Amino acid sequence: MIIAIDGPLASGKGTLARALAAHFGFPHLDTGSIYRATALALIKKGIDPNNKEEAIKAAQNLDMFNIIDSELRTAQVGAGASVVAAIPEVRKALFDFQRNFAANPKGAVLDGRDIGTVICPDADFKFFVTARPEVRAMRRLKELHSAGDNITLEELTAQIIERDYRDANRADAPLKPTETSIMLDTSDLGIDEVIKKATGIIESNG
Ligand code: DC
Repeated sequence: MIIAIDGPLASGKGTLARALAAHFGFPHLDTGSIYRATALALIKKGIDPNNKEEAIKAAQNLDMFNIIDSELRTAQVGAGASVVAAIPEVRKALFDFQRNFAANPKGAVLDGRDIGTVICPDADFKFFVTARPEVRAMRRLKELHSAGDNITLEELTAQIIERDYRDANRADAPLKPTETSIMLDTSDLGIDEVIKKATGIIESNG
């Protein structure tokens, strides 16, 4: 069984993906981490993520099995990830790894922006997770502050608006639900309720 989960930043998609993977015993891939790792490889070398040629090289040379998650969670890396993700050749370089992960005979849960549309169009379940922008900004602010990032709410809100726009309006694999996506608005739900709802949908239709 393949479970595809898409949605914007801080919508709750990652938490839901991890919970469903644990519940059903499936491996989980946070596909944002490979775009973040591509951006980080550039940032570490002092290269602007807008440098297309270098971004493509970084994606092609990425060692997927040596990604250090704790380095990826800053606002700077997130913003860079959204920039490199708009480059079609970067997406192409990262495609096979995601597809192969999804082909695991044990099943798989993948979360990202284009899982239901491009990576796993035949997924058994496609969730599109959303939340109001102000709710997402507050969630992300808490995460970043506890990671030692001193970004302000105003700066973060501006970044979120910019990233949402870029991710949803790029020509290649923009963030959008499919006709069969199950929409989950998490703005006014606790994470336990979100998990219960999604688990219930899968168990009653599986
Ligand atoms: O989910 P995240 O915040 O870690 O993702 C970082 C960026 O990576 C996001 O702004 C867009 C890009 N991304 C993508 O284009 N496609 C995916 N499947 C996952 C992430």
